[in-house]
Amino acid sequence: MDNKKVVLGVTGGIAAYKAAELIRALIKRGAQVRVIMTKSAKEFISPLTLQTLSQNQVYTDMFVPAEKYEMAHITLAEFADAFVIAPATANIIGKIASGIGDDLLSTTIMAQEKPTLICPAMNDKMLANPIVQENISKLKKLGYVVMESAQGELACKTSGKGRLPEIADIIEEIEALLTPKDLKSKRILITAGPTEEPLDPVRFITNLSSGKMGYALAIEAHRRGAEVILISGPTNLPLPPVEKAIKVRTAKEMYKAVMDNYKKADVIIKAAAVADYSPKILAAEKIKKDKKILSLELKNNPDIIAEVGKNKGRRILVGFAMETQNLLDNARKKLKKKNMDLIVANNLREDGAGFRTDTNIITIIDRTGKTESLGKMTKIEAAGAILDRVKKIINGNKKRNNNG
Ligand code: CTP
Repeated sequence: MDNKKVVLGVTGGIAAYKAAELIRALIKRGAQVRVIMTKSAKEFISPLTLQTLSQNQVYTDMFVPAEKYEMAHITLAEFADAFVIAPATANIIGKIASGIGDDLLSTTIMAQEKPTLICPAMNDKMLANPIVQENISKLKKLGYVVMESAQGELACKTSGKGRLPEIADIIEEIEALLTPKDLKSKRILITAGPTEEPLDPVRFITNLSSGKMGYALAIEAHRRGAEVILISGPTNLPLPPVEKAIKVRTAKEMYKAVMDNYKKADVIIKAAAVADYSPKILAAEKIKKDKKILSLELKNNPDIIAEVGKNKGRRILVGFAMETQNLLDNARKKLKKKNMDLIVANNLREDGAGFRTDTNIITIIDRTGKTESLGKMTKIEAAGAILDRVKKIINGNKKRNNNG
């Protein structure tokens, strides 16, 4: 978000105090933040708090002498890369949906065409009110991004849907709002994480995959406007805001989920570290330690990407190669053998690459043999680099189709 300009509208609900945390998170990510507060928001949190955190004056009044604000509200509309209203009450949602501009926030929102995110927070009955729901649908149809409120305990001592979404989720939506949508209308299936292969009711074989690379791909693809289907093995990561998420445990379950869904996708990225083998026999009861040496017999699992490669048609297929030796040779062989369009190779022995880290060191190889080694970068940046290469192939295919 480096130097991105966010105008945050804060309206009068109890969640207004969470705007302070949101501003901190935005500033920490390098954004420039200007805050507009409604009259009732000031009842819940002081403008001075938000002024101090945003490092800028807070805009509250419509009718003030020109010299009071260093930027007029029309200029605020030009200044912004994106608008965010958090929390958004039923009142502001209703006003925007009905074209009412009777204070600084509602008139500023009306006088701008920037990407706008609305984060509703209110009592569950208010949110469920058909008029509020109709207003939300109207805003969505008009191109506003409206987040789902979270479920849980509400300030009015009831429990239900109406809480302000988690700050981390709002930040992710703002990242998406600020990212050019160059993968819009593309459907991308991504697999992530390890698989677990049970040998009895309490034990399983797995690997060190954390799912971070696959989840970074899902986050970045979503930011760039793609419709993402995420098929994930067991991980401890929060689910990214994807269109469809399918949680699986074993390689066999992942195989089925991929087979059921890949035909709908334009791009398939197999970042999962699928277990190659699973125990031949799954013991119904816990295996007891009554033997000196215990041998396990393993049978091989279906190779999911190879299966997709056989019938991929025009779909773009991207695989990974995790190696500890002969990285590029092995990766090139896997790309050919499994009919991939791109393979992303990384060496598990390199510091800052592979499982569990937040960074990766990748080499991307295409079908022509072109090999690009990228330096150490965050997994989100690596995901961006992979999606850039996917985009190039999409553009190349489009050109070829247009020419012939
Ligand atoms: N893969 C898969 N299904 C499997 C095994 C692997 O879809 N049963 C995919 C992985 O998601 C990855 C690619 O195949 O995109 C390469 O995985 P990797 O583990 O590096 O290679 P393997 O083909 O399993 O070969 P080996 O373990 O012998 O290196």
